[in-house]
Amino acid sequence: MKNTLSVDRQSNQLYKQIYDYILNRIERSEWKEHDKLPSIRTLAQEMNVHRLTVFKAYQLLKQNGKVYVKDKSGYHVHPDSCVSFEHLDYPIVSSYFLRNHLSEIHQVPATYQFSQALIDPNLLPNLYFSEYVKKVFDLYPKVLGTYSTVQGDEELREALSCYFLKRHQLHLSADEILITSGAQQAIDLISRILVKPNDTVLLERPTYSAAIDIFRQQGAHIVPIDIYPGGYDLEQVESCMRQYKPRLFYLNPTFQNPTGYTVPLEQRKRLVELAEQYRCLLVEDDPFHDAYFDREPPLPLFTYDTEGWVMYIRSFSKYVAPGLRIAAVASRPPLMRSLLTAKSLSDNGTPLLNQKIFLHYFSSARLQQHLEKLRIALHIRKGIMEEELAVTDWKWISPKGGLNLWIKLPETIPMEELLIKSIEQSVSFVPGILCDPLRESASWIRLSYSYANEQQLHDGVQRLINLSRSLASSESK
Ligand SMILES: Cc1ncc(COP(=O)(O)O)c(C=O)c1O
Repeated sequence: MKNTLSVDRQSNQLYKQIYDYILNRIERSEWKEHDKLPSIRTLAQEMNVHRLTVFKAYQLLKQNGKVYVKDKSGYHVHPDSCVSFEHLDYPIVSSYFLRNHLSEIHQVPATYQFSQALIDPNLLPNLYFSEYVKKVFDLYPKVLGTYSTVQGDEELREALSCYFLKRHQLHLSADEILITSGAQQAIDLISRILVKPNDTVLLERPTYSAAIDIFRQQGAHIVPIDIYPGGYDLEQVESCMRQYKPRLFYLNPTFQNPTGYTVPLEQRKRLVELAEQYRCLLVEDDPFHDAYFDREPPLPLFTYDTEGWVMYIRSFSKYVAPGLRIAAVASRPPLMRSLLTAKSLSDNGTPLLNQKIFLHYFSSARLQQHLEKLRIALHIRKGIMEEELAVTDWKWISPKGGLNLWIKLPETIPMEELLIKSIEQSVSFVPGILCDPLRESASWIRLSYSYANEQQLHDGVQRLINLSRSLASSESK
């Protein structure tokens, strides 16, 4: 079979591209276990690269246990090189395997549900919605007889445009807003229009797990940017922008998932300047903006953007009605056109009924009243979780909003075992490794305090603590 890899010859990581390419063919079973790989000379000739480059790639494959060497017969595929979690970290390979790690955890039923960053349905305005459903059918009797426009219902986009102006001093026309089926779809559409295999994408470390899966599926080369309680190290951001020339930086700067950290105002302004300077689009995902406890967070980065280097995703799923799947993407015109094409290819528009129901709730005074009560309820639940955890030596920074605690456990606790045993005991949580683009944060976990009720928070956290104690002590015996 002829090799079809086109390599980027300017890259000083040429051998890494060849490594990825070979691994990809092994993954796709084109080369099976114990098969002999092409000789270094043959591959170098076919790919028009130096033999030493191929040698370096083979050495790395050997070092990582993907191939082995047989005396006088060259390199062979190692039988253990079957598809595994680890392989998904390689850009070219990852685009062949579609996974959503977080949703795999969410599908496990649990009484003590700490893995879902969703709000307890009992805290949502369910009753009002049944009223609005009736109202929407009265007002628009043919609402189910037609599609929405691809961009989304105009009335809703106008309402959002007024809302952004009033709340964030943001001047956005209805044409600059796209309604998507949740923020997750927005991230997916953006990745499809902007990211090609091996394009560099900056992601916070840690970050929203599904975003890692989406960009990885697109074949992106992911470069992590650490997030701290005080924001980013802007020198790191600048040096990554300068060095890697990324297509975009996906960020969740307000009550970030999973950490709860918020990037301060001064950094927001500077980030927009850096984005302009290095022509790196900032994709600002802001689903927790209204989920603050005491004080409103700083304005979105999008407000400081004058040149079109920020795209803004605002989901309303979390605190209004997750089942409606409504989010808005704000973007300046050239990118909006591509987004509309992607949206039309994806689903031809978010269901009109959902948009109209949402519109009527969103435009009513009830939304703000609901939010005020919700903030208090979330604050109380966070307090309960923290109170239960206070007996441990686990470490976390208490967030000022959002839905999660990001917690460092002692390294003596074996994480995989803790997850398995917790699920057996009906307690679920997100292992930090899923939120880490480098798949390293092994002793961190994300616990959501927003879904379980107060009693479940008390009981479930106690169960988790007891389990971790028994595992830690059995490990050290
Ligand atoms: C940072 C972030 N972005 C996007 C989403 C997905 O939001 P939606 O339900 O609107 O698709 C989530 C959900 O947890 C999230 O935490």
